[in-house]
Amino acid sequence: MTDAYDPSAEGAQMEFDGRMSYGDYLDLEHILSAQKTWTDTHDEMLFIIQHQTSELWMKLAIHEIAAARRSLAAGETRPAFKMLARVARIFEQLNSAWDVLRTMTPSDYTAFRDALGQSSGFQSYQYRQIEFMLGNRNKAMLRPHEHRAGIVQMLEDELAQPSLYDVALRLLNGSIPLPDAVLNRDLSRPWKPDQAVADAWTQVYRNPRKYWELYELAEKLVDFEDYFRRWRFNHVTTVERVIGFKRGTGGTGGVSYLKRMLEVELFPELWHLRTDL
Ligand code: HEM
Repeated sequence: MTDAYDPSAEGAQMEFDGRMSYGDYLDLEHILSAQKTWTDTHDEMLFIIQHQTSELWMKLAIHEIAAARRSLAAGETRPAFKMLARVARIFEQLNSAWDVLRTMTPSDYTAFRDALGQSSGFQSYQYRQIEFMLGNRNKAMLRPHEHRAGIVQMLEDELAQPSLYDVALRLLNGSIPLPDAVLNRDLSRPWKPDQAVADAWTQVYRNPRKYWELYELAEKLVDFEDYFRRWRFNHVTTVERVIGFKRGTGGTGGVSYLKRMLEVELFPELWHLRTDL
């Protein structure tokens, strides 16, 4: 038997006294000590890690959507397209993650579900922030956070600025004028489908060569919403598989609530115009 290979022979750094190591750079002690289980059941670790990793990916999605929105507002479409493509891939990644969670059976979950109390992804403030950033705005969703002033403030600040879709519409207005009611709408309200906007996007799709940037922007938005819809669908399917039609720990009807959320359209005109082309 030869001796086990020693990577220091080819220069691998082996001493980290006084030097920054991998764990230091990533603050791993902090991250890896945050998986606090509340029961001694086997599957709770999966449940916690699945949620925590989703929250980390959501953090990156927020970072990218915010930057994409800033770029679009400055008229810099190219970097924004790159960031939007990345956000779609983040959601693709989150979609694949459901396969891991689906290995948890109803019996596995029932063993620790009571430990959750009333907590639920319904109270995910990063998820709500993403929805608000995209334009699905609903002030009622601030209420679960009223005990945390900083979170309410963050969500209210988001409601005060144009959503990603509002910014896209301002760009559209640069080529095809839109009504004042669209451009100066009450930003805190959810977006409502608008005929003038539908007509303008239809023109873009009828003349892609003339409006190539807007056409590309529209397709980036549709692509992202496509992945987002798959996330919602995977979620509700997993939920039905695991808890059937029980009420959610967050208090909603559970599957019935999540099915209603499948009807949300973030960029409605971009989906509807396809029927008329
Ligand atoms: C077995 C696993 C899961 C079950 C049984 C489950 C169940 C539910 C239920 C029933 C709701 C509706 C609100 C309520 O009454 O509680 C909900 C909402 C939600 N869950 Fe899950 N969930 C699971 C996994 C996840 C994971 C891994 C995430 C990732 C972060 C997540 C994120 C969310 C979010 C963001 C909402 C709010 C959706 C909205 O308001 O549109 N869930 N979940």
